Amino acid sequence: MYTLGVLTISDASARGQRQDTSGQAIREVMGAAGYQVRRYAVVPDDPDAIVRHLEAWSAEVDLVLTTGGTGLGPRDVTPEATLKAVERLVPGIPEAMRQETARQTPMAWLSRAVAGTRGQCLVINLPGSPRAVRECLGVVLPLLPHALDILKDTTREHPVPPPSLA
Ligand code: MTE
Repeated sequence: MYTLGVLTISDASARGQRQDTSGQAIREVMGAAGYQVRRYAVVPDDPDAIVRHLEAWSAEVDLVLTTGGTGLGPRDVTPEATLKAVERLVPGIPEAMRQETARQTPMAWLSRAVAGTRGQCLVINLPGSPRAVRECLGVVLPLLPHALDILKDTTREHPVPPPSLA
């Protein structure tokens, strides 16, 4: 079983003015897929708070999914903070999220989400709405087991790709 950290990045949710429905959507989807949520926090759109959580959690869980702060708003700093925390980029993951989900929502192109690795942890930014979370996780979920196994060097086998990405 893989372990997961869920980091919701939202000024309004951190102030308690908005329910964290996106973080909840991640927990539902990932829980149903067998992932164990070990860390969960809601932080404001503050680069230092984001970096601090990513640095700490990367030593504690296999995967961190962030939600929110990936757009063009003046307070949207999630990609920049993530780039500070990760050591290697995995550009294919956000490329696939945007390309595949833009078929349902052209606004998908407006997310600046990034993904990368820090140590043996994979960090993926998701946009900040429950609908976007579900759409993007639909693309990412089939890739995760192999990605996480390679990251931990526990596999040498290359699986047959899922039909949707073949
Ligand atoms: N991606 C998907 N799949 N579905 C969506 O509804 N919303 C978009 C985009 N990505 C969306 C999506 C919108 S409207 C914005 S503004 C950007 O994500 C950034 O959202 P964020 O700032 O909440 O992260």
